[in-house]
Amino acid sequence: MDWYARAFIKASLTWFSLGVALGLAMAAHPAWVIYRPAHAHMNVLGFVTMMIYGIAYHVIPRFTGSRVHSPRLATVQWWVANVGLALLVVGFLARPHSAAIGVHLLIVGGTVSAAAAYMFVYNIWRTIGTERPRASAAAARPRGP
Ligand code: HEM
Ligand code: HEM
Repeated sequence: MDWYARAFIKASLTWFSLGVALGLAMAAHPAWVIYRPAHAHMNVLGFVTMMIYGIAYHVIPRFTGSRVHSPRLATVQWWVANVGLALLVVGFLARPHSAAIGVHLLIVGGTVSAAAAYMFVYNIWRTIGTERPRASAAAARPRGP
């Protein structure tokens, strides 16, 4: 498995552990529900999205019989996604206490997280490419009604 696929899956599991811990803390201490968006994004951007990034980088090239378009971009994307999410989560945690600091962190963290998402879209799009039917497969295809 390539470094970036393994690293995304490990990051996903780490965000999942942190997100579930904050969920449990909110369940036990309802006043902490002010941190709900931090919990939500640790789980949906951290656990779910990063798991999809990691699995997709491993599986999609195998589906298409190609290679990841840019392994270097995938490695850069891992850092951008994790730094972006860390800033976003800290922004969500800070906002109830200091709106000015919180909102600035959210803008930066949100922009960096979005950049990581678009790197993934570009890299997977170029990996899939344009599929052309192979001559042998076309010949083997049944004809007629
Ligand atoms: C043991 C695991 C978890 C616990 C104990 C937990 C607990 C909570 C609690 C207490 C809330 C606040 C509900 C309220 O508004 O009063 C919440 C909200 C939320 N949780 Fe979790 N959670 C867990 C796992 C997850 C996972 C795995 C995901 C996503 C994959 C998730 C996504 C969300 C979202 C999106 C919200 C906000 C829902 C809304 O907009 O109202 N949670 N969770
Ligand atoms: C670049 C990526 C993203 C950014 C910058 C972002 C930003 C935000 C912001 C600013 C809010 C409003 C929170 C509030 O003011 O209470 C929000 C809410 C929410 N977002 Fe995202 N989001 C991103 C990705 C996602 C993804 C990928 C999902 C789901 C797969 C998602 C699910 C949600 C949910 C469920 C809520 C409601 C949470 C709550 O009730 O506290 N977001 N998001």
